[in-house]
Amino acid sequence: MSSVSKRILVTGGAGFLGSHLCERLIADGHDVLCVDNYFTGRRANIVELLNQPFFEAMRHDVTHPLFVEVDEIYNLACPASPVHYQHDPVQTTKTSVIGAINMLGLAKRLKAKILQASTSEVYGDPVMHPQPESYRGNVNPIGPRACYDEGKRCAETLFFDYYRQHNLRIRVVRIFNTYGPRMLPNDGRVVSNFIVQALRGEPITLYGDGSQTRAFCYVDDLIEGFVRMMNAPDDITGPMNLGNPVETSIAELAELIVDLTGSRSRVVYRPLPADDPIQRCPDITEAKTILEWQPKTDLKTGLSRTIEYFDKLLAKGPGLEHEATA
Ligand SMILES: NC(=O)c1ccc[n+]([C@@H]2O[C@H](COP(=O)([O-])OP(=O)(O)OC[C@H]3O[C@@H](n4cnc5c(N)ncnc54)[C@H](O)[C@@H]3O)[C@@H](O)[C@H]2O)c1
Repeated sequence: MSSVSKRILVTGGAGFLGSHLCERLIADGHDVLCVDNYFTGRRANIVELLNQPFFEAMRHDVTHPLFVEVDEIYNLACPASPVHYQHDPVQTTKTSVIGAINMLGLAKRLKAKILQASTSEVYGDPVMHPQPESYRGNVNPIGPRACYDEGKRCAETLFFDYYRQHNLRIRVVRIFNTYGPRMLPNDGRVVSNFIVQALRGEPITLYGDGSQTRAFCYVDDLIEGFVRMMNAPDDITGPMNLGNPVETSIAELAELIVDLTGSRSRVVYRPLPADDPIQRCPDITEAKTILEWQPKTDLKTGLSRTIEYFDKLLAKGPGLEHEATA
């Protein structure tokens, strides 16, 4: 429990990362307002918080202005998986850009601190490995991922312009692949995909030849990074990479999941989708030195906790999947 209780707004608070963040902030003794339009978020994710006296949930779309009184804002609202952000790409850009403008305007009025959940996707298909914060990226501005990548890049621009122009207290974190309980089973992200397929005994679909690598961070580690970044001195604006620098090939991941679930699923290969990066790995030197942060949970431990969650979720049967809580 922290010594000073603050009023904290979490946009996208009913989503995967947002719900874990709300839980952490409540456990730290803060007064938390969760704002979400439930596009990819679920009330089930926050149901256990709803009876906490210092937790409040509000249905609201961040593309519309919001008038509330808070001390800090974590801006997470935005669908994060390609299947969801490509569903309505115009809305995705609006959520990132207009959502950022609205939340920055609110922070300016309140003189509140504001943290932006940016993404490793701002690096696009990187030509530099691992990616330090100084790398400017290789993004295709007109491809199917651009609504997300460019929306997040523009949000970063807005954060830094509010910082320079209005002296706003900003923080920008660039999140790399994060996984854990409460990911959606149908969101097409590789960890949830493989786990659900393995638990159902279905073929595991691997896009490309499986040699492409990703670096997977367990959700609790990432949330610790968020909180450290928010609590860092005001001259620490970021952008700050947060992620796990341990690279795993997608083929290795599939094998590990088959192993941990005891599944008899076999792997089937499919072509790589457009603009899918071949390799992505964070350089977390800054987070290590400035925030004294680094991931602690190894992949096997994190995957086991995630598998346990999906196992319970799937046991509830089709249609009940969204009712489970972690
Ligand atoms: N999980 C990751 O690996 C990852 C990686 C990079 C960046 N991020 C960023 O972190 C944030 C949270 O991601 P997540 O993985 O929890 O995804 P998520 O889809 O589970 O959460 C996003 C939340 O935002 C809500 N939302 C979407 N549009 C909204 C709008 N217009 N108004 C209000 N709420 C809205 C959704 O309903 C959902 O609850 C996102 O901004 C995402 O871009 C996540």
